[in-house]
Amino acid sequence: MSKTPVRTLTRQGATVHIYPDKMTASQAAAQFWADAMTRIGEQRADAKVVLGMATGSTPIPFYAELVDLHRRGHLSFAKAVIYNLDEYYPISPLDPNSYHYYMHQHLFGQIDVPANQTHLLDGSVPHWAIGEHCRQFDRWIVREGGIDLQLLGIGRNGHIGFNEPTDLPGPAASQLPTRRITLHPVTRADAGPSFGGRDHVPRHALALGTEPILAARQIVMLAFGTTKAEAVARSLDGPITGRVPGSLLQQVGPNVTWWLNSDAAALLRD
Ligand code: GLP
Repeated sequence: MSKTPVRTLTRQGATVHIYPDKMTASQAAAQFWADAMTRIGEQRADAKVVLGMATGSTPIPFYAELVDLHRRGHLSFAKAVIYNLDEYYPISPLDPNSYHYYMHQHLFGQIDVPANQTHLLDGSVPHWAIGEHCRQFDRWIVREGGIDLQLLGIGRNGHIGFNEPTDLPGPAASQLPTRRITLHPVTRADAGPSFGGRDHVPRHALALGTEPILAARQIVMLAFGTTKAEAVARSLDGPITGRVPGSLLQQVGPNVTWWLNSDAAALLRD
């Protein structure tokens, strides 16, 4: 299978790679990610690389590819420090719909990352402790020196992580800290099938803020399928607005690389 993109576009300095299908896009993005991890690790005396990880259906083939690179001896996570984007609230980490469960299943359980180097927001903290829990997550990331490599997907409504559309102006929408958010009806509808119906999807989530996301030194955005085409086009070609959180990425230009399949890129002009 060829890993050469069908088309490569640029938008505000960002590179947009378009592949025929999600498997080739995922393989190419995973190779890009692995190369970046290796390069960053080699530049540091302690070899530490701070990774921001995403969930959802989109990154599953990407994670499978990282696991394969690890199994073949091409990639180690022994020095990786991982911070995940989000978690439902409330949810138990043992719940198969939790992102704790997802990350263990798709990545952590299959690579050599030490357990104490993986960090997820905890959907089981008591209500009164949420504020401090989220502030501590942000403080830890700052103490690490920020995120080196951030993986992102995009929601049908343009959300990044669980940063849902907001009426805040672009600058304020770009500086949001990690916090508890209310899930958008579209997001709950999309998550409905795995929870056995939309009414069983938690109403809230804990979300890494737009501020630490946008401060990442490199961002890898994956989007596949026709259901994402509008969010992708509005993020890349529309105005910068909190109503389309993906559009906030326009502000960090060359730090972002988009990896799309043709369906997700269907509304982009050359
Ligand atoms: C989920 C996650 C996001 C993800 C997005 C798209 O709800 N919180 O991090 O990028 O929505 O999900 P999917 O990849 O399943 O389409």
